[in-house]
Amino acid sequence: MEIIESGLFHIFDGELTGDKVEKSCKLYKDAMSFYESVDESLDPETVMYEVTTVNADRKEEGYLNWAISLLHPVKVNGECCMTRGHFHIDTNCEEYYWCARGTGLLMMMDENGNDWCEKMYPGSLHHINGHHAHRLINTGNEDLRIICCWNSNAGHDYKRVEEHPFVHRVFVSEEGIVIKDAQR
Ligand SMILES: [Fe+2]
Repeated sequence: MEIIESGLFHIFDGELTGDKVEKSCKLYKDAMSFYESVDESLDPETVMYEVTTVNADRKEEGYLNWAISLLHPVKVNGECCMTRGHFHIDTNCEEYYWCARGTGLLMMMDENGNDWCEKMYPGSLHHINGHHAHRLINTGNEDLRIICCWNSNAGHDYKRVEEHPFVHRVFVSEEGIVIKDAQR
C-alpha cells in the first residue's frame, strides 16, 4: 500500500493550492451593477473578490466542489464589498460556508423575497438551504475569507437574483453597520 499526497492543500485560514485549482477575480468594472451607486473614485480595475475553486470531476448528483471566496475590504460609496449573489439552479442542493478570517455578513433570501443576515467571524459555520439565495458581504477592514462546499450539480442562478433582488443593502459608517432598503 502506498501513502501519497492528496495533491491539494488548504492552509488553515489561507490559500488553496493544487493542480486542479481554478481561480477567478471579480473587478469593480464587472461588479458596478451590484451596488446602489457608481463610485467614481474607485479604479474600475480594482479587484473586489477572488474565488479559488476545486471543481469536482463530474457535475451530476453526488459530487462536491470546494472553494475559498476572498472579499477585499473595498467600499463603494460606503456600501460594503459583496458577491453577486445567487440561487442554486438545482434547489435540492445545499451549501456550507465557513468563515476562516475577517468579519462580514451572509445575506440570505427565501423564495418569497424575505431576506436576513447571519454574522460571519472566524469559526462561524453557515448552512444554506438550497431554496435560499445567498450573498457574502465584507463589513470589516480586512479580507473576508470564506470556505465553501457545495454539490457540483447545484449551478448558479444569477438571473433569478437579478429579477428578484435582495431587498436590503449593507453600508458602513463611523457608527458601524447601516442597513438600508434597496431601491427598486
Ligand atoms: Fe451557492
